[in-house]
Amino acid sequence: MNPPRPAVKAAGLRKSYGKHVVLGGVDLDHPAGTISLLGPNAAGKTNTVRIRTTFIHASSGDMSVAGHGVTHGPRTAIRVAKT
Ligand SMILES: Nc1ncnc2c1ncn2[C@@H]1O[C@H](COP(=O)(O)OP(=O)(O)O)[C@@H](O)[C@H]1O
Ligand SMILES: [Mg+2]
Repeated sequence: MNPPRPAVKAAGLRKSYGKHVVLGGVDLDHPAGTISLLGPNAAGKTNTVRIRTTFIHASSGDMSVAGHGVTHGPRTAIRVAKT
């Protein structure tokens, strides 16, 4: 059996608005077909999803979706084939 494919990965993901740090270094490693993004209000869930979908840029750190980096470069649409 093949190991699960990484779907969403993040390493040291940080986002700040001025001095307001909203993501202080997030690490994620979600296999395909799984979701876990839980937390109280203002924990940073929406910012994490917006970075993941390239609506906003991270301040630093790395994030990828199916191996495609989303934290650097232009906003892009990533189409991931369902297998
Ligand atoms: N555009 C923005 N400018 C400044 N602060 C923001 C902005 N968007 C979100 N925040 C702040 O970032 C923090 C995390 O927000 P958010 O990612 O929406 O959390 P969650 O979705 O977990 O409730 C909150 O303190 C929020 O006020
Ligand atoms: Mg939210």
